[in-house]
Amino acid sequence: MKHIKGIIFDLDGVLVHTDELHYQAWKQIADKAGIPFDREVNHRLRGVSRMESLAIILENDDKNRTDEEKQAMADEKNKLYRNLLKSLTPLSVEPDIRKSLHALREKGIKLAIGSSSKNARTILQNIGLSTMFDAVSDGNNITHSKPHPEVFLLAAQYMGLTPEECTVVEDARAGVDAAVDGGFTCFAMGDAADYGRATHRIENVKDILDYFD
Ligand code: BG6
Ligand code: MG
Repeated sequence: MKHIKGIIFDLDGVLVHTDELHYQAWKQIADKAGIPFDREVNHRLRGVSRMESLAIILENDDKNRTDEEKQAMADEKNKLYRNLLKSLTPLSVEPDIRKSLHALREKGIKLAIGSSSKNARTILQNIGLSTMFDAVSDGNNITHSKPHPEVFLLAAQYMGLTPEECTVVEDARAGVDAAVDGGFTCFAMGDAADYGRATHRIENVKDILDYFD
């Protein structure tokens, strides 16, 4: 992978287990509203924005809700989620992941975040990774969330690189679609590991190092 000069990491579910915290917060909202919601439905929320996540959850709702009610549900979920984010510390990042990021930087590879979340910078701060990345592209600088490639195209641009010079690391099918449609190669893990559009499949972030010897 000699031509790769930058790696763009998804955050939730790749570098830290905030995907579980998203699930817990949505589960409380869904239970309170009497809407069936399980981990299967939760997989479809990976990589998509807060309001799009709510729209997926509401597919199983038997009530018609106004836009104001929907906004209130999304706001309440974010409040619960941000409360859960307070439990994150540098220990929430697996040591292997932190070591791998350092090792990639030592090889001269630029690193960026490409996340649909508006809470990405808070998370990076809490887990002590704020200074690890050359660029952060997140839910605050995009108009379309994954599977649209915008978040990754901007991350590459912020690093001064082209999509061909970057690769993406994702745990969401929507994220793999965003990467491939944007002209990036892509490492897929977790829920996206068996997705056919991924360029490479990995079990853990540290497996990326095998491609950069
Ligand atoms: C993505 C998550 O990283 O961020 C999605 O995979 C989530 O599940 C999205 O909906 C938006 O997050 P936030 O923090 O802006 O509500
Ligand atoms: Mg993710």
